Amino acid sequence: MAEKFRDTDMDRQQAMLMKSFYHLLSFYASSNADYYLDRVAISHNRDHIDIRPALYDLWLDTLIATVQRFDPDFDAAVELAWRLVMTPGIVYMKFHYDRKTIVGS
Ligand code: HEM
Repeated sequence: MAEKFRDTDMDRQQAMLMKSFYHLLSFYASSNADYYLDRVAISHNRDHIDIRPALYDLWLDTLIATVQRFDPDFDAAVELAWRLVMTPGIVYMKFHYDRKTIVGS
């Protein structure tokens, strides 16, 4: 994982993380891809920065660990809600790993 970020400006990456989080959330809310997630799905696929599907699971587990650390009301129901909301966007990203174009657009 660290290998992927060796040339990355981590302040910019943090801002990106915030933005990607909102895009995953809006993907869930609209049950559809926005232009942004289309672009990111292609940029992360095998032909580009090559983010293997398993790394998205790691990403989600790390997000949950962060929520657990900072939310005093964290419990199993809160964890499940986070996982349910983030999962459609993650499935979308993983689905495009081996594809050259966006499916369904
Ligand atoms: C969960 C959904 C994710 C979203 C929405 C997302 C979004 C983004 C966006 C918007 C960028 C900058 C522009 C671009 O390259 O398209 C980016 C860059 C990047 N992302 Fe992600 N990302 C996600 C997951 C991941 C994961 C799981 C990894 C690897 C562990 C990862 C690694 C990277 C890397 C290495 C860059 C390039 C950083 C640089 O500019 O040096 N991303 N991501």
